[in-house]
Amino acid sequence: MSLLEVSGVSKTFKAGRDLLGRRTRRPPAVQDVGFTLAKGECLAVVGESGAGKSTLGRIVLRLIDPDGGRITFDGVDVLAARPREMRRLRRRMQMIFQDPYSSLDPRMSVAEAVAEPLLVHTDLDRAARARRGAELLDRVGIGRRYLGRYPAELSGGQLQRVAIARALTLNPSLIVCDEPVAALDVSVRAQVLNLLRDLQEELGLSYLFVSHDLALVEVVADRVLVMAAGRVVEQGDVRQIFRSPAHEYTQRLLSAIPVPMPRDSTGRRMAEGRPEPSARSREEAAQ
Ligand SMILES: Nc1ncnc2c1ncn2[C@@H]1O[C@H](COP(=O)(O)OP(=O)(O)OP(=O)(O)O)[C@@H](O)[C@H]1O
Ligand SMILES: [Mg+2]
Repeated sequence: MSLLEVSGVSKTFKAGRDLLGRRTRRPPAVQDVGFTLAKGECLAVVGESGAGKSTLGRIVLRLIDPDGGRITFDGVDVLAARPREMRRLRRRMQMIFQDPYSSLDPRMSVAEAVAEPLLVHTDLDRAARARRGAELLDRVGIGRRYLGRYPAELSGGQLQRVAIARALTLNPSLIVCDEPVAALDVSVRAQVLNLLRDLQEELGLSYLFVSHDLALVEVVADRVLVMAAGRVVEQGDVRQIFRSPAHEYTQRLLSAIPVPMPRDSTGRRMAEGRPEPSARSREEAAQ
C-alpha cells in the first residue's frame, strides 16, 4: 500500500489588490494534482519556477490547506484530521527547506534545535533529549562537539545537516525536501545529497523531492512528477520519462534551452519566449 495518496488537490491563493484597489485574479497555484508515494520511495517534483512545486509540498504536510482534493497518509485522511490527530501526523511528516539559514532559529543552539521536536512532542526528560540530539548529530556527520554552537557559527552545509537531523528527530516516515541542496555551495551539494540518500535507505524514508535540477533528480528519484502552471503534465518512472518524455514541456525542461511557458487553462500561451519568467510575470501574463 502507498504511504501517501494524493488526488484532485487544488489551491488558488486569495486575490490581492492592485494599486487602484481593484481585485487581482490569480491563476491556481496547484490544480487537480494527484500522485502516490510508496514507503521507501523517492518521488521528485520538477518544473520551472512558479509551477507550484513548493505549494504542493506544503499542502501535503498541511502547512497550506488546499481548496479541495484528498490526501491519505498511511490510511489516515489528512485533510479531515482534527488537531490532535494532526499533531500525531506531523511527527511522521517533516520538511527540509532550501535555505537552512532561515529555517533554523539563530537564537537556538544546535543541541536545542535538534532536540526541540522532542520537547514539543514527547515527554522525554532533558538527559534523554540530549542523548538523542547527540546521536542524531553524529548520524548526520557533524559530530557532537557542535552541540553548543549557534547557526551563525556553522557553514551552509553544516546547517543543512542540522536541519536534516532536526527533521529526523521524531523518526518520520515522509520528508518533503524542497530544493534541499540548491542553496549550498557546489562543493558540498554531493555530500549532503549522499547523506539524504543513505538516510533514506537506512531508515526506509519516503521523500517528496522538489528540485529544478534534473541531473540531480535522475540520481536520487525513483519516479518523477512534472508540473507546469500548477498542473501535472506527466509522471512516471524517472529513467523512462528522461529517456522518452511524452510531453513537449518535459522535453524542453530536459534540454537546457530556456523553457517557454505552457498554455494556460484558456489555451493562451503564457509569457512565451521569455527565458525563465518570474512567478510574478507569469501571473500577470495569465490575467
Ligand atoms: N503564500 C502565497 N501567496 C500567494 N501566492 C503564492 C503563495 N505561495 C506561492 N504563491 C504563488 O503560487 C504559484 C506557485 O508557487 P510555488 O512557490 O509553489 O512555485 P515553485 O514551483 O515552488 O517555484 P520555485 O521553483 O520558484 O520555488 C506562484 O504563482 C506563486 O507566486
Ligand atoms: Mg519552490
